[in-house]
Parts: sequence; structure tokens; C-alpha cells
Amino acid sequence: MNLLLSQLQPYPFERLKALFAGVTPNPALRPISLGIGEPKHATPSLVTDALTASATALPSGLAVYPATSGEPALRRACADWLQRRYGLSLDATTQVLPVNGTREALFAFAQTVVDPTRTGGARVVCPNPFYQIYEGAALLAGAQPHYVASDPARNFAVAWDTVPDAVWAQTQLLYVCSPGNPTGAVMPLDEWARLFALSDRFGFVIASDECYSEIYFRDEPPLGGLEAAARLGRTDFKNLLMFTSLSKRSNVPGLRSGFVAGDARLVQPFLLYRTYHGGAMSPVVQAASVAAWNDEAHVRDNREQYRAKFAQVTPVLEAVLDVRLPDAGFYLWAGVPPAWQGDDAAFARALWAQYNVTVLPGRFLAREVHGVNPGAGRIRMALVADTAECLEAAQRVARFAAEAQP
Ligand SMILES: Cc1ncc(COP(=O)(O)O)c(C=O)c1O
Repeated sequence: MNLLLSQLQPYPFERLKALFAGVTPNPALRPISLGIGEPKHATPSLVTDALTASATALPSGLAVYPATSGEPALRRACADWLQRRYGLSLDATTQVLPVNGTREALFAFAQTVVDPTRTGGARVVCPNPFYQIYEGAALLAGAQPHYVASDPARNFAVAWDTVPDAVWAQTQLLYVCSPGNPTGAVMPLDEWARLFALSDRFGFVIASDECYSEIYFRDEPPLGGLEAAARLGRTDFKNLLMFTSLSKRSNVPGLRSGFVAGDARLVQPFLLYRTYHGGAMSPVVQAASVAAWNDEAHVRDNREQYRAKFAQVTPVLEAVLDVRLPDAGFYLWAGVPPAWQGDDAAFARALWAQYNVTVLPGRFLAREVHGVNPGAGRIRMALVADTAECLEAAQRVARFAAEAQP
């Protein structure tokens, strides 16, 4: 067996199951989960229609292997979306590549980029808390993750300045998540400029995970990594690849569709890797993806649904918890009341027992570094269900937070 597998950590939801083991939730209340970040708004019919139409229209469509590089129509639709959303002109053939959702792509990209044999070892830098795939990708590529805490005092900006030069010197890949999961923080242009300067100095590649980019609460849409690069005159997107997805934008996590775009010198070896790995997208999924990327009306409607929901739910929780409307995404990242002395796991367990509401303890989404877990004392609440259900959950959480003692 691959010995590196033994370094993988249990997934947050496995840890949640263990935390709740032996506890019976209050049977008088129906269960509500704010645990998993799985979109629950309706999938737009234009996507399901395209899916079924292409499945029936393809005479021998399923009798041929799709190309790993994707159909030209899909790459064009992705490039056109980049143009409309960010004002960018990318070459659809050399700078864009479809992927089967960003999860697999974020993982596979580390296997493409990291050279574990390099003298001094390989490092992969990522935020803390973070999406756990970055860590597994780094470990299975033979690299050591270096976790960089997000700072609650600065709107959860990741404290990149704390990374020593000696670590940057070994870094081969940096994961950026903007808008962030779980914090919802969007990285501003000056931070991008600092990271690009570090990338130029130390030669590492930046993987920019942007799958929450279309769910936002300010007037201005979140700045994208490629957009930041272009604004700073880096029109070749040197050492930068962005990862985006239809899962959250179009409420299709089951479709498994996204794409990467950026530096052609990264896209080309990634395509090579994927050809061997088997990363081609089904033609049926490609047809549905073209329909989804080409339509913005459903995305605006989806965003309005989240805005209305967050406008109702956030004030209920703000009254009793350290929480506020994030820049973007569909999570609330809340501090537990002081009485719990930072024990987010105990808070989540007691909340489940007494009010039958599932939230994710923040410590499960982060790693302890020098004795500090930057997720400790916080909980993540995914507001993915409909407004009425999220509101009921928030009212229960608020009651619990106001009354319950550890
Ligand atoms: C930060 C982040 N990146 C990537 C993903 C993967 O999404 P998908 O594979 O559906 O594109 C998720 C899913 O929850 C996520 O939270």
C-alpha cells in the first residue's frame, strides 16, 4: 500500500459522526442540518433539459471516449464566461481546461505540480482553516503542508506575511481560497500583488480556488485571481491557475463540472497528467455545462435567494454570537459564546442534543500549529436549505446560545 495514505486525516464529517456518537438528539424537534456545504436550491431546468436532450440526441455519443481536453464548444463557453465575468480574453485551446468539479482538479493539480525529490523537500502552503482536499493533495504528492492562519481581526484575511522565507523557498504550490471556505473572506488586490511577488521570487505555482465566486453580498462581485493578475499587468497569468465550478453557481453539485484557466504552461502539463489519470468529462455533462455557463439569469436568481436568506438569518444570530455577514459564500463562521471557553466541539454536541441542529465545529476545519487551532471556538453553519428551515435553525441556535451552559 501507498504509505502516504496513512498520513490522511479523517474527513470533518467522520469526526462529526464520532463527536455525536452515543448522543440522542432531542426527538421533539425535527432535525435540521447546517453541516454540509451542499447546495440545496433547485437545479435550473435549462441544465437538466440540456442534459436529457443531449443524452437522447447523441446517436453514438456514449459509444465514443470523450477527449480529456473537452469539446471546443465547452472550452469556448468557459472562455466566454471569463470574458463576461472578469473582462478577460483567454485562449480557449491553451488556457482553459474542463474538469469534473474542482475537488478532483484541486487534488490532481498537486500531483502534476509537486516534485517531491527536490533537494530540501517540497512544501505546499494553504490557508488554515481550509478545504481539506488541499492537505490530502499535498500529502499524497509527497509534500509537507504548511498552514497559514486566517486572522479574525482582519476580516479573516490569511496571514501570508507570517510565512518565513525559508518555507517559501521550499514551496512548490500555494492554495488560495477566495471567497474562502469557511470564512467567506475575499482576497483584495494588494494581497494578490504580495503573493505574485512571492511567487516570482520563489518560483511557486498558485492554485486559486474560486468556487464560491458567484454567491456574494456586496454590490461588487469578488475579485478573481486571473482578474487580479490582469489588473497588475500579468497578462500571461504566470504560475497561476484558477479553479471554478458549476456546483455552487448553478446548484449542480451532482453534475461534477468545473474548469481551470490561466497560465498555458500549467494547463499543458495538467492536461498531460489528466490524460493518464482519466479526467475526461462525459459528453452529456459537457452539453449541460455549456448551457449552464452560457446563462447568467439563473445565477442572478440564485444569488438573490442567498441574499434574502442571509438578510433574514444573520441578524438572528448576530444578537447572540460573534458573527456577521461574510463577503461571499454560503457559510456563517461564528464564534461560540465566551461561557464555552472556545470549546466549539462541546457547543456543537450540546446544540445537537438539545435542539437537533447540526453545525460543524470549526476545529475540524483547521489544524493546530504551535498549540493554536485557528478554527477552535468557531462553528460553521451552511445556509444551504430554504430560508424557512435556515431561519428555524438560527432561532434554535440563538436560543441555545443565549441559555445553555457547558
Ligand atoms: C473551498 C471548496 N473548494 C472546492 C470545492 C469542491 O467543489 P466541486 O468539486 O463541487 O466543484 C468545495 C466544495 O464544497 C469547496 O468548499
